[in-house]
Amino acid sequence: MRLFSIIILFAVLSACNHQVVENRFNEKHRPQFHFSPPSQWTNDPNGMVYLDGEYHLFYQHYPDSNVWGPMHWGHAISTDLIHWEHLPIAIYPDSLGWIFSGSAVIDHNNTSGLGSEKNPPMVAIYTYHNHVMHDAGQNGFQYQGIAYSLDKGRTWAKYEKNPVLPNPGLWDFRDPKVVWHEASQRWIMALAITDHVGIYSSKDLLSWEYESDFGEGAGSHNGVWECPDLFPLTDDEGNEIWGLLVSVNAGGPNGGSATQYFLGEFDGETYTSFDTLTRWIDYGCDNYAGVTYSDIPAEDGRRIFIGWMSNWDYANQVPTEVWRNAMTLPRTLTLTKNENGYIFHNKPVDELKKSEAYAQSIEAEEAIELNDSLYHIQLEIELEEEGFLLELSNASNENVTFELNDTLFLFDRTNSGITDFSEKFDKLHTAPYSKNSENVKMDIYVDLSSIEVFINDGELVLTDLVFPTTPYQKVSIIKGQKHLKKGDVYSIQTIW
Ligand code: FRU
Repeated sequence: MRLFSIIILFAVLSACNHQVVENRFNEKHRPQFHFSPPSQWTNDPNGMVYLDGEYHLFYQHYPDSNVWGPMHWGHAISTDLIHWEHLPIAIYPDSLGWIFSGSAVIDHNNTSGLGSEKNPPMVAIYTYHNHVMHDAGQNGFQYQGIAYSLDKGRTWAKYEKNPVLPNPGLWDFRDPKVVWHEASQRWIMALAITDHVGIYSSKDLLSWEYESDFGEGAGSHNGVWECPDLFPLTDDEGNEIWGLLVSVNAGGPNGGSATQYFLGEFDGETYTSFDTLTRWIDYGCDNYAGVTYSDIPAEDGRRIFIGWMSNWDYANQVPTEVWRNAMTLPRTLTLTKNENGYIFHNKPVDELKKSEAYAQSIEAEEAIELNDSLYHIQLEIELEEEGFLLELSNASNENVTFELNDTLFLFDRTNSGITDFSEKFDKLHTAPYSKNSENVKMDIYVDLSSIEVFINDGELVLTDLVFPTTPYQKVSIIKGQKHLKKGDVYSIQTIW
């Protein structure tokens, strides 16, 4: 009898387990072409590095809850930046602290000695957050540690002599992003220190020296500086320009967390930006803590960015249970020039096109019903005085609108669906637009709980979460019908 019960229990348990696996990634609002963790909490993308055909994505993860807590590094890999394979947790907290954000590099010349010339190590550089010290109000609770992998990121060992960069007595001291500086043959680390970026250098990733600070009087200081990323790019004339991403929480252009950037020069010791203007990578409320891939092969040459698609204003409250929060589409950053000097364009990586198929065209005069709930709308419009306004809606009378005129882009999510989880969510978001041609391109990517809008190939970008009770499947052009030159809808395949 007892054996029988055990067998029954086992059968029931495995059926339940099967059920869980079957349901995974099918939940309401689960992103279908964006990365999200299999379960529980995520915030920042971490350790983005490419090796032997695999893009690694680590991420801030709390495996025991769907709200923020003791941080681990979750892990996934992809061969095309779109389809992800989930791997076991890579880095666990230890007696030195929780594992906060950081980066990863391939130590090709084995400068650290942690691998060999034949098998160079993958090295993760992250912040230890000592919550006991923090909670006791003691300074110096954040310091940098490293871990390494000799098997393509599958298993990790912590460096025995951590921390590699102790805290000199500062409150915020985190989010190391490391890049190889070819000219000086050294590693350079950008670190977030409350209201500025600290720059450190190292010959071997194991011991670090302070070089300089950047940030006073530059950009937005309406919040704490986090997650810097300092990297070189080449402009059209072959000049080397250094970009510096800095996330700032709060004070984003539409409230809460957002990511600003600088463009300038780096001589191996000091970063000098061309100006002190505030430029935002994205005017939406849901693109934070974004950084770029390390070790993209020279023959590819792209600067590939992924951000966390949420906002500290409400990230812990968004209406999902099984998992909470996701990443933006991977985007290519390129340099262009406008009247204010250099700017970044960012738009989805070309790999996404393989998941897209032409579905239908948009009629200017009549609303159209879509067959799909995952789609990309591509528009070409002539921007005339009356402006242009497009609405996406569902059968429950929920909608979002996108409006463009000569000076502004407006994304309205006040009636987008479930919004009552936070007072800060149901807002109209605006971005300055400077019309320099009548012809405007707009690309809108709609997933089950996010919308990303790219104007003129990523000159202006706005990423926002939305939680409609059913997908938006009706497209109406409310203003500027006469000026729609072309409107196409592409369906996007789910990646799971
Ligand atoms: C940014 C951030 C980082 C920190 C991490 C903790 O969103 O606050 O500065 O390392 O999240 O999870």
